[in-house]
Amino acid sequence: MRTHRIVTIAGDGIGPEILDSAFRVLARVQEKCGDFTLEYEEHEGGAACYVTHGVNLKPESLEACRRADSVLKAPVGLPQVRRPDGTEAGLLGGVLRGGLDTYANVRPVKLWPGVDAPLKAVPGEIDYVIVRENTEGLYLARGLGVGNDQAVADTLLMTRQGVERVCRFAFDLARKRGGAPGDGKKRVTCVDKSNVLRSMWFFRSIFQEVGEGYSDVEKDFLYSDAAAQALVQQPSRFDVLVMENFLGDLLSDLGGGTIGGLGMCPSGNIGADASYFEPIHGSAPDITGRAVSNPIAQVLSASMMLEHLNETAAARMVDDGVWQALASQDLVIQANGQPRGGTEAATEAILAHLG
Ligand code: IPM
Ligand code: MN
Repeated sequence: MRTHRIVTIAGDGIGPEILDSAFRVLARVQEKCGDFTLEYEEHEGGAACYVTHGVNLKPESLEACRRADSVLKAPVGLPQVRRPDGTEAGLLGGVLRGGLDTYANVRPVKLWPGVDAPLKAVPGEIDYVIVRENTEGLYLARGLGVGNDQAVADTLLMTRQGVERVCRFAFDLARKRGGAPGDGKKRVTCVDKSNVLRSMWFFRSIFQEVGEGYSDVEKDFLYSDAAAQALVQQPSRFDVLVMENFLGDLLSDLGGGTIGGLGMCPSGNIGADASYFEPIHGSAPDITGRAVSNPIAQVLSASMMLEHLNETAAARMVDDGVWQALASQDLVIQANGQPRGGTEAATEAILAHLG
């Protein structure tokens, strides 16, 4: 029996309710597979933690995340809980991504069946992964901006080591995937703004250097503005995309918009020694406690975690369960992004279609 030690962070808002759905799916998958167990260790984190303890994550919790085999995290943050400088206190991006050095933010954008998406695409035609650099770029300036009441500057920093490792990650990922839906070719698209910024040319040059080691993977280049257009007009061209932190933040939400919204978007934050998995969306305080939230992004984040732990059969079981639940219309995501019948009905539908 394989055992994986998982730290869990239930977060704020709808966090606990969607994490509960993921737990139920994980429990069922463990029963069905019968050859591995997940041992959970719960930790506080986010806005409520900040209010109670004065920090959004205790040092011992960060240490626990480091020691664990992986971390399953729900959304965090509440708009009214702010630091004295006005930024949201509950957000854990800085502390976890930096603290665990999870340099690759893996954001699959996939069109699932039965989802009312704004593009004329069928399921299978949109299936790419944005690899967002996660530890430097513009967001390294988080909390470090300089200036006064007349002018402010945030610095975008790229390092050779930082760009190299994320590009390598993207090429390795492309090797493991089946290629772009449009033509089946394994392809990594470098998205940058190297026509304008020196830092972006640095990124592109290193991408090219790293790419030389991957003759089996096509290299593709797009400026970020053109990429925003192409993600809407020709999504099936894309397989893996790699880009700077801020660009990845923007374009992954754009991608989410093409597949029915962020409620369909899981993600993984992956480093050499640690990882954590979370939905891309926020804690949705406006619908908290009404049992209407969509658990899919959280459930799919759990499946990405299983894949990362090498529990490939279990991960596939979860993905297939979600796919079948949606395809059979036992699980219907309504125009407002919420599942018909609420979180409970959605979870039951996924459970009913597992293996
Ligand atoms: C995301 C989020 C975070 C980010 C915010 C909440 C700090 O938008 O994971 O994309 O910008 O990284
Ligand atoms: Mn974002």
